Amino acid sequence: MKKTSIFIVLFISYISYSAWVYTDGTNTASVMSLQQQAGKNIYQKNNCTSCHQLFGMGGFLGPELTTVISDKNRGPLYARTFLQYGGARMPNFHFSKEEIDEVIAFLEYVDTNASTYKNNK
Ligand code: HEC
Repeated sequence: MKKTSIFIVLFISYISYSAWVYTDGTNTASVMSLQQQAGKNIYQKNNCTSCHQLFGMGGFLGPELTTVISDKNRGPLYARTFLQYGGARMPNFHFSKEEIDEVIAFLEYVDTNASTYKNNK
């Protein structure tokens, strides 16, 4: 009798936990705005990935960009400067102000969705 009640309690806990995880688990992902999507297109078209990594994937000539926006030593203004003027090794893509805004918006999106990445650092 005692074993049966323990089994029932565990079984109900398991079912409730599974239901909670499977119904609630995916609600945290945010949807990209049109501006962020435009930035993503620019990022892909210009092959930024050949030199930069997002979530650890990509080329290693340039720095990792996953948390460039929230990084207290870098941030949006710092990133914007490289997009506008290029760097010693970073090419100048001659982006318009609007295109730079879009790339920054995309990098912001990546950054806000990188919570697990930040915790693992
Ligand atoms: C040819 C390789 C190369 C490509 C392609 C490239 N970058 Fe870079 N990028 C660099 C390097 C190297 C740096 C570091 C500064 C330097 O040495 O010029 C840099 C710096 C940056 C920075 C400043 C971040 C930091 O931590 O220094 C940002 C933001 C950035 N790049 C964004 C981009 C974006 C967006 C694209 C695509 C439109 C891109 N880069 C394409 C090489 C590249």
